[in-house]
Amino acid sequence: MTSVDLSPRMGSQVTIRKADLLSGAHAKEIRALLDARGVLLFRGIAPSDDELRTIARTLGDLRIGGARRGADGKVLSEGDDGILKVSLDAKVNPDYARFLPGNHLWHMDGTYEEVPPLATLFTPYRLSREGGDTMFANTYAAFEDLPEDEKAELEKLRVVHTMQAALFPAMRNCTPEEFAVWCSYPQRSHPLVWHHRSGRKSLVLSTSGAWVEGMHPAESHDLLQRLMIHATQPQYTYRHAWQLGDLVIWDNTGAMHRAMPFEEGSVREFHRCTLNGEEPITAPRREAALAG
Ligand SMILES: [Fe+2]
Repeated sequence: MTSVDLSPRMGSQVTIRKADLLSGAHAKEIRALLDARGVLLFRGIAPSDDELRTIARTLGDLRIGGARRGADGKVLSEGDDGILKVSLDAKVNPDYARFLPGNHLWHMDGTYEEVPPLATLFTPYRLSREGGDTMFANTYAAFEDLPEDEKAELEKLRVVHTMQAALFPAMRNCTPEEFAVWCSYPQRSHPLVWHHRSGRKSLVLSTSGAWVEGMHPAESHDLLQRLMIHATQPQYTYRHAWQLGDLVIWDNTGAMHRAMPFEEGSVREFHRCTLNGEEPITAPRREAALAG
Protein backbone atom coordinates (compact mmCIF):
# COMPACT_ATOMS: atom_id res chain seq x y z
CA MET A 1 0.00 0.00 0.00
CA THR A 2 1.34 3.44 -0.95
CA SER A 3 -0.12 6.93 -0.70
CA VAL A 4 0.42 10.45 -2.02
CA ASP A 5 -0.98 13.72 -0.66
CA LEU A 6 -3.85 15.31 -2.58
CA SER A 7 -3.29 18.71 -0.96
CA PRO A 8 -0.78 19.82 1.68
CA ARG A 9 -3.13 19.45 4.68
CA MET A 10 -6.08 17.37 3.49
CA GLY A 11 -6.51 14.11 1.62
CA SER A 12 -4.35 11.25 0.36
CA GLN A 13 -4.71 9.03 -2.66
CA VAL A 14 -4.03 5.42 -1.70
CA THR A 15 -2.84 2.72 -4.07
CA ILE A 16 -3.72 -0.75 -2.89
CA ARG A 17 -4.90 -3.97 -4.53
CA LYS A 18 -8.67 -4.42 -4.25
CA ALA A 19 -8.16 -7.88 -2.71
CA ASP A 20 -6.04 -6.33 0.06
CA LEU A 21 -8.69 -3.69 0.71
CA LEU A 22 -11.33 -6.42 1.03
CA SER A 23 -9.21 -8.67 3.26
CA GLY A 24 -8.46 -5.91 5.76
CA ALA A 25 -4.74 -6.68 5.52
CA HIS A 26 -3.93 -2.96 5.78
CA ALA A 27 -6.91 -1.88 7.90
CA LYS A 28 -4.74 -0.51 10.74
CA GLU A 29 -2.62 1.55 8.35
CA ILE A 30 -5.73 2.85 6.58
CA ARG A 31 -7.29 3.91 9.88
CA ALA A 32 -4.10 5.74 10.88
CA LEU A 33 -3.88 7.46 7.49
CA LEU A 34 -7.55 8.43 7.68
CA ASP A 35 -6.94 10.05 11.06
CA ALA A 36 -3.88 11.89 9.76
CA ARG A 37 -5.19 12.98 6.36
CA GLY A 38 -9.01 13.25 6.78
CA VAL A 39 -9.91 11.97 3.31
CA LEU A 40 -8.66 8.86 1.50
CA LEU A 41 -9.19 8.30 -2.22
CA PHE A 42 -8.95 4.85 -3.82
CA ARG A 43 -9.30 4.94 -7.62
CA GLY A 44 -10.64 2.14 -9.81
CA ILE A 45 -12.10 0.08 -6.96
CA ALA A 46 -15.77 0.18 -8.12
CA PRO A 47 -17.00 -1.77 -5.08
CA SER A 48 -20.33 -3.59 -5.24
CA ASP A 49 -22.64 -3.08 -2.25
CA ASP A 50 -21.35 -6.33 -0.74
CA GLU A 51 -17.75 -5.24 -1.21
CA LEU A 52 -18.46 -1.80 0.24
CA ARG A 53 -19.90 -3.44 3.37
CA THR A 54 -16.93 -5.80 3.58
CA ILE A 55 -14.40 -2.96 3.36
CA ALA A 56 -16.38 -0.95 5.93
CA ARG A 57 -16.35 -3.86 8.38
CA THR A 58 -12.55 -4.16 8.17
CA LEU A 59 -12.29 -0.53 9.36
CA GLY A 60 -14.93 -0.25 12.06
CA ASP A 61 -18.48 -0.83 13.21
CA LEU A 62 -20.83 -0.69 10.18
CA ARG A 63 -23.99 1.27 10.91
CA ILE A 64 -27.14 -0.70 10.26
CA GLY A 65 -30.39 1.26 10.28
CA GLY A 66 -30.70 4.95 11.03
CA ALA A 67 -32.49 7.36 13.30
CA ARG A 68 -33.47 10.20 10.96
CA ARG A 69 -37.05 11.02 10.14
CA GLY A 70 -38.32 12.12 6.76
CA ALA A 71 -40.42 15.18 5.96
CA ASP A 72 -43.51 13.13 6.78
CA GLY A 73 -42.11 12.15 10.18
CA LYS A 74 -41.39 8.57 9.10
CA VAL A 75 -38.15 6.98 10.32
CA LEU A 76 -35.52 6.89 7.60
CA SER A 77 -33.24 3.92 7.44
CA GLU A 78 -29.65 3.60 6.28
CA GLY A 79 -31.04 0.33 5.00
CA ASP A 80 -31.08 -2.89 6.98
CA ASP A 81 -28.12 -3.90 4.92
CA GLY A 82 -26.01 -0.85 5.82
CA ILE A 83 -26.11 0.75 2.35
CA LEU A 84 -27.72 4.16 1.85
CA LYS A 85 -28.43 5.27 -1.71
CA VAL A 86 -27.77 9.00 -1.91
CA SER A 87 -29.75 10.57 -4.73
CA LEU A 88 -32.00 13.57 -5.25
CA ASP A 89 -34.18 11.29 -7.38
CA ALA A 90 -37.22 10.41 -5.26
CA LYS A 91 -37.55 7.18 -7.23
CA VAL A 92 -34.14 6.01 -5.94
CA ASN A 93 -34.69 7.01 -2.34
CA PRO A 94 -38.16 8.46 -1.75
CA ASP A 95 -37.57 9.12 1.97
CA TYR A 96 -34.17 10.71 1.71
CA ALA A 97 -34.31 12.98 -1.34
CA ARG A 98 -35.99 15.88 0.48
CA PHE A 99 -33.17 16.02 3.03
CA LEU A 100 -30.29 16.19 0.64
CA PRO A 101 -30.27 19.90 -0.23
CA GLY A 102 -28.75 20.37 3.25
CA ASN A 103 -25.72 18.42 2.00
CA HIS A 104 -24.73 21.38 -0.18
CA LEU A 105 -23.74 23.34 2.94
CA TRP A 106 -20.63 22.62 5.02
CA HIS A 107 -21.51 20.06 7.68
CA MET A 108 -20.54 17.12 9.83
CA ASP A 109 -22.89 14.13 9.87
CA GLY A 110 -24.75 13.11 13.02
CA THR A 111 -24.26 16.21 15.16
CA TYR A 112 -27.60 15.34 16.81
CA GLU A 113 -26.10 12.17 18.21
CA GLU A 114 -24.05 11.94 21.39
CA VAL A 115 -21.45 9.95 19.48
CA PRO A 116 -21.29 11.18 15.88
CA PRO A 117 -20.35 8.72 13.12
CA LEU A 118 -16.64 7.97 12.75
CA ALA A 119 -16.41 7.84 8.99
CA THR A 120 -18.24 7.47 5.70
CA LEU A 121 -17.38 5.28 2.70
CA PHE A 122 -18.75 6.79 -0.52
CA THR A 123 -18.75 5.49 -4.08
CA PRO A 124 -20.48 6.88 -7.19
CA TYR A 125 -22.90 4.78 -9.24
CA ARG A 126 -24.04 7.54 -11.59
CA LEU A 127 -22.44 10.97 -11.94
CA SER A 128 -24.08 14.31 -12.63
CA ARG A 129 -23.57 15.84 -16.10
CA GLU A 130 -21.91 18.85 -14.51
CA GLY A 131 -20.77 19.89 -11.05
CA GLY A 132 -21.34 17.52 -8.14
CA ASP A 133 -17.79 17.57 -6.74
CA THR A 134 -17.48 16.92 -3.00
CA MET A 135 -15.46 19.30 -0.84
CA PHE A 136 -13.80 18.49 2.48
CA ALA A 137 -12.40 20.83 5.15
CA ASN A 138 -9.86 19.80 7.80
CA THR A 139 -11.14 20.99 11.20
CA TYR A 140 -8.00 19.77 13.01
CA ALA A 141 -5.78 22.03 10.90
CA ALA A 142 -8.19 24.96 11.19
CA PHE A 143 -8.05 24.75 14.99
CA GLU A 144 -4.29 24.23 15.07
CA ASP A 145 -3.64 27.51 13.23
CA LEU A 146 -5.68 29.76 15.55
CA PRO A 147 -3.81 31.99 18.02
CA GLU A 148 -3.23 30.30 21.40
CA ASP A 149 -5.34 32.79 23.39
CA GLU A 150 -8.28 32.31 21.02
CA LYS A 151 -7.95 28.52 21.26
CA ALA A 152 -8.16 28.77 25.06
CA GLU A 153 -11.36 30.85 24.83
CA LEU A 154 -12.99 28.56 22.27
CA GLU A 155 -12.27 25.52 24.44
CA LYS A 156 -14.66 26.90 27.05
CA LEU A 157 -17.64 27.10 24.66
CA ARG A 158 -20.50 24.79 23.74
CA VAL A 159 -22.70 24.97 20.64
CA VAL A 160 -26.31 23.79 20.25
CA HIS A 161 -26.91 21.86 17.03
CA THR A 162 -30.40 21.77 15.48
CA MET A 163 -31.90 20.20 12.38
CA GLN A 164 -33.66 23.42 11.36
CA ALA A 165 -30.34 25.33 11.43
CA ALA A 166 -28.86 22.68 9.11
CA LEU A 167 -31.71 22.50 6.62
CA PHE A 168 -33.52 25.84 6.43
CA PRO A 169 -30.68 27.78 4.72
CA ALA A 170 -30.72 25.16 1.94
CA MET A 171 -34.49 24.68 1.77
CA ARG A 172 -36.11 28.06 2.25
CA ASN A 173 -39.12 26.90 0.22
CA CYS A 174 -40.00 24.27 2.82
CA THR A 175 -43.57 23.89 4.00
CA PRO A 176 -44.52 24.83 7.57
CA GLU A 177 -45.11 21.10 8.15
CA GLU A 178 -41.57 20.23 7.07
CA PHE A 179 -40.15 22.97 9.28
CA ALA A 180 -42.19 21.63 12.20
CA VAL A 181 -40.73 18.14 11.65
CA TRP A 182 -37.17 19.54 11.71
CA CYS A 183 -37.95 21.38 14.94
CA SER A 184 -39.21 18.15 16.50
CA TYR A 185 -35.73 16.59 16.27
CA PRO A 186 -33.81 16.54 19.53
CA GLN A 187 -31.24 19.34 19.78
CA ARG A 188 -27.77 18.43 20.89
CA SER A 189 -25.18 20.54 22.67
CA HIS A 190 -21.52 19.77 21.92
CA PRO A 191 -18.24 21.41 22.93
CA LEU A 192 -16.94 23.72 20.19
CA VAL A 193 -13.52 22.11 20.51
CA TRP A 194 -13.22 18.32 20.52
CA HIS A 195 -10.37 16.91 22.55
CA HIS A 196 -9.99 13.51 20.88
CA ARG A 197 -8.69 10.47 22.74
CA SER A 198 -5.67 10.64 20.47
CA GLY A 199 -4.79 13.96 22.11
CA ARG A 200 -5.51 15.96 18.95
CA LYS A 201 -8.06 18.79 18.94
CA SER A 202 -10.52 19.83 16.24
CA LEU A 203 -13.24 22.42 15.77
CA VAL A 204 -16.78 21.00 15.89
CA LEU A 205 -18.32 23.11 13.14
CA SER A 206 -21.35 22.38 10.97
CA THR A 207 -24.29 24.33 9.55
CA SER A 208 -26.28 22.50 12.24
CA GLY A 209 -24.46 24.68 14.83
CA ALA A 210 -27.25 27.11 15.73
CA TRP A 211 -25.89 29.12 18.64
CA VAL A 212 -23.18 29.28 21.29
CA GLU A 213 -24.57 28.55 24.73
CA GLY A 214 -24.73 31.56 27.04
CA MET A 215 -23.51 34.04 24.41
CA HIS A 216 -25.42 37.05 23.11
CA PRO A 217 -27.14 35.98 19.83
CA ALA A 218 -25.30 38.64 17.81
CA GLU A 219 -21.88 37.59 19.12
CA SER A 220 -22.75 33.92 18.75
CA HIS A 221 -23.80 34.42 15.11
CA ASP A 222 -20.65 36.38 14.29
CA LEU A 223 -18.34 33.85 15.99
CA LEU A 224 -19.84 30.81 14.22
CA GLN A 225 -19.79 32.59 10.84
CA ARG A 226 -16.20 33.71 11.34
CA LEU A 227 -15.01 30.23 12.34
CA MET A 228 -16.84 28.67 9.38
CA ILE A 229 -15.12 31.11 6.99
CA HIS A 230 -11.76 30.45 8.68
CA ALA A 231 -12.08 26.65 8.53
CA THR A 232 -13.10 26.52 4.87
CA GLN A 233 -10.20 28.56 3.47
CA PRO A 234 -8.39 26.88 0.56
CA GLN A 235 -5.44 25.76 2.69
CA TYR A 236 -7.75 23.54 4.81
CA THR A 237 -9.85 22.07 2.00
CA TYR A 238 -9.70 19.41 -0.69
CA ARG A 239 -12.15 19.37 -3.60
CA HIS A 240 -12.78 15.96 -5.12
CA ALA A 241 -13.85 15.58 -8.77
CA TRP A 242 -15.46 12.14 -8.98
CA GLN A 243 -14.69 9.39 -11.45
CA LEU A 244 -16.67 6.16 -11.70
CA GLY A 245 -14.84 3.48 -9.73
CA ASP A 246 -13.72 5.89 -6.98
CA LEU A 247 -14.02 4.94 -3.35
CA VAL A 248 -13.61 7.82 -0.92
CA ILE A 249 -13.49 7.44 2.84
CA TRP A 250 -13.66 10.51 5.05
CA ASP A 251 -13.17 11.07 8.75
CA ASN A 252 -16.40 12.61 10.05
CA THR A 253 -14.81 13.53 13.37
CA GLY A 254 -12.12 15.90 12.07
CA ALA A 255 -13.59 17.14 8.81
CA MET A 256 -16.61 18.85 7.31
CA HIS A 257 -17.93 18.01 3.86
CA ARG A 258 -20.33 19.40 1.28
CA ALA A 259 -21.67 18.49 -2.18
CA MET A 260 -21.17 21.16 -4.81
CA PRO A 261 -24.16 22.13 -7.00
CA PHE A 262 -25.16 20.01 -9.99
CA GLU A 263 -27.93 20.08 -12.56
CA GLU A 264 -31.56 19.79 -11.53
CA GLY A 265 -33.15 16.41 -12.22
CA SER A 266 -29.68 14.81 -12.16
CA VAL A 267 -29.32 11.02 -12.10
CA ARG A 268 -26.35 11.45 -9.69
CA GLU A 269 -26.36 8.49 -7.31
CA PHE A 270 -23.86 7.39 -4.68
CA HIS A 271 -23.85 4.42 -2.34
CA ARG A 272 -22.72 5.03 1.20
CA CYS A 273 -21.72 3.05 4.27
CA THR A 274 -21.35 4.74 7.65
CA LEU A 275 -19.07 3.63 10.48
CA ASN A 276 -20.43 4.21 13.97
CA GLY A 277 -18.54 6.65 16.16
CA GLU A 278 -16.13 5.42 18.81
CA GLU A 279 -15.97 8.40 21.18
CA PRO A 280 -18.27 11.23 22.27
CA ILE A 281 -17.26 14.83 21.61
CA THR A 282 -15.34 15.69 24.74
CA ALA A 283 -14.25 19.15 25.81
CA PRO A 284 -10.73 19.74 27.13
CA ARG A 285 -12.19 21.56 30.15
CA ARG A 286 -14.43 18.62 31.11
CA GLU A 287 -11.48 16.25 30.95
CA ALA A 288 -9.47 18.52 33.21
CA ALA A 289 -12.40 18.74 35.65
CA LEU A 290 -12.78 14.95 35.72
CA ALA A 291 -9.05 14.48 36.27
CA GLY A 292 -9.14 16.99 39.12
FE1 LIG B 1 -23.19 14.54 5.01
